[in-house]
Amino acid sequence: MDLEQAKKKLESIGQEHVLKFYGELSQPQQQALLEQIDETDFSVLSHINDKGGERGEFSPLSAMQLGEINERRQELYDAGMQAIRSGKTAALLLAGGMGTRLGFDHPKGMYDLGITKPLYIFECIVKNLLDVVKKSGTWIRLFIMTSEKNNDDTVAFFKEQNYFGYREDKIVFFKQSMAPCCDMNGRLYMEAKDRISTSPNGNAGWYSSMVRAGLDKILADEGIEWIDVFAVDNVLQRICDPCFVGATVLADVSVGAKVVRKAAPDEKVGVMCLEDGRPSIVEYYELSQEMMDAKDENGDPAYNYGVILNYLFRTAELEKVTDDKMPLHVVNKKIPYITDEGENVSPTSPNGIKFEQLVLDMIHQLSSCLPYEVVRENEFAPIKNLTGIDSVESARELLKKNGVEL
Ligand code: UTP
Repeated sequence: MDLEQAKKKLESIGQEHVLKFYGELSQPQQQALLEQIDETDFSVLSHINDKGGERGEFSPLSAMQLGEINERRQELYDAGMQAIRSGKTAALLLAGGMGTRLGFDHPKGMYDLGITKPLYIFECIVKNLLDVVKKSGTWIRLFIMTSEKNNDDTVAFFKEQNYFGYREDKIVFFKQSMAPCCDMNGRLYMEAKDRISTSPNGNAGWYSSMVRAGLDKILADEGIEWIDVFAVDNVLQRICDPCFVGATVLADVSVGAKVVRKAAPDEKVGVMCLEDGRPSIVEYYELSQEMMDAKDENGDPAYNYGVILNYLFRTAELEKVTDDKMPLHVVNKKIPYITDEGENVSPTSPNGIKFEQLVLDMIHQLSSCLPYEVVRENEFAPIKNLTGIDSVESARELLKKNGVEL
C-alpha cells in the first residue's frame, strides 16, 4: 500500500491522525506503518457501542457430576487413555493475553510463584501435563498460542528453562491475530509514531490463528481428533485429564467443558446452559431470579456449573466455527499510547477499548457439549490479580493445599 492509498483508507474511517508523524519517520518505519494500515481490519471500530448481541432462550444443560464420574472412573479413564495413547489428543495453551490485571512486565506464564525456590506459572502447567505423559507413556502434542507482543519472550523463556522437561519437538508456538485499540470515542491510539496500538483479538482466535499458521496440517497428519484448550492462569488444572477425555469421547459430543459447582446461586461466574437448544454460557448478570431458583430432577440448582476455561474440542467440528458469526466483545482496558504531541502515556485506569472474541462463544456454534464437573479446590486456581480474589496469593494457598511445594 502506498501513502495515497493509506490516506484514503484512513480518511474513509476518520482516522487521518495515524499519519501525523509520517514525515518524521525513517523509510523502513514508513513502510512498516503503511503495511500495518494495509493489513488492519478497522471494521471492529464500528462496534464500540455494541452492548452484546440479543440472547436466545435459555434452558438448563445437565453436567456429568462427581458421583457419576467416581462410579464410572475406570471406564472413563480407560477410554481417555486410549485416545491419548493413540495420539488422538493434543493440548493447546492460550497464552496470548496481555495479563494487564496482574501488572507483570513479562508474559503471565513467566510469573514466579515460588517462595523458597522458583516455580513459574508455565512450569506448573507443563508439570501437570507431564503427569499424563508419564502415565500414558505418550508425548502429547502441545500447541502454545502467543501474540506478537509476548511471543519472543515466551519462546526464549521456554528455551532457557529447557522446556521444563517437555520434549521440544512436541511443542509448537504460534501467534494469534491482533485488533486495533481506540479511545472511548473510537479514535485509534498510536503506540509509537510508526505503529497503531493493537492488542490480541481474544482467545477465540486460537483456531483461525492455527489455521493461518498452517497448523491444521499437523492436526490432520497426526490424526489429532481432540484438543484440550486451556488458559495460562489456572495453575491447578489437569490437562488432557484421562477421565475428562474419556467422558467426552464416550459422550460423543462436539466439546467437553470442565466446570465447577457454583459456590453460591449468585456467584459471579458464567454457567453452562442451552441457548435456543445449543450449548452456551449464560453470564451471571444475565441470570434471572427464576433461573437462579430453577431446580434439576435431583432438586439441585439447574444452572449450577461454572466454566473454568478448559475445553476439549473435537477437531472435526472446528471447521463449523467461523469468526464472523461470533460476537465482538468491547472491553475497557488500560492502553498505553502516545499523544498527538508525541508524549508517552501509561494510564493508571481504563482509558480505551479493546476488541475481543471469546472462546466461550465458540461453544455456542457447536451442536453438543458435555459439562464435566471437577473439584474446585483441586482444579481451579486462576491468577488474574496480584492479591485478593483469583490472585497470586489465593493460587499459592491452593497450590499448598494440593501438596505443591513453593
Ligand atoms: P483473560 O481475559 O483472563 O486474560 O484470558 P488477559 O486478557 O491476559 O488478562 P487481563 O484481562 O488483561 O488481566 C483468559 C485466557 O485467555 C488467554 C489468556 O492468556 C488467558 O490464558 N487470552 C486472552 C489469549 O490467549 N488471547 C487473548 O487475546 C486474550
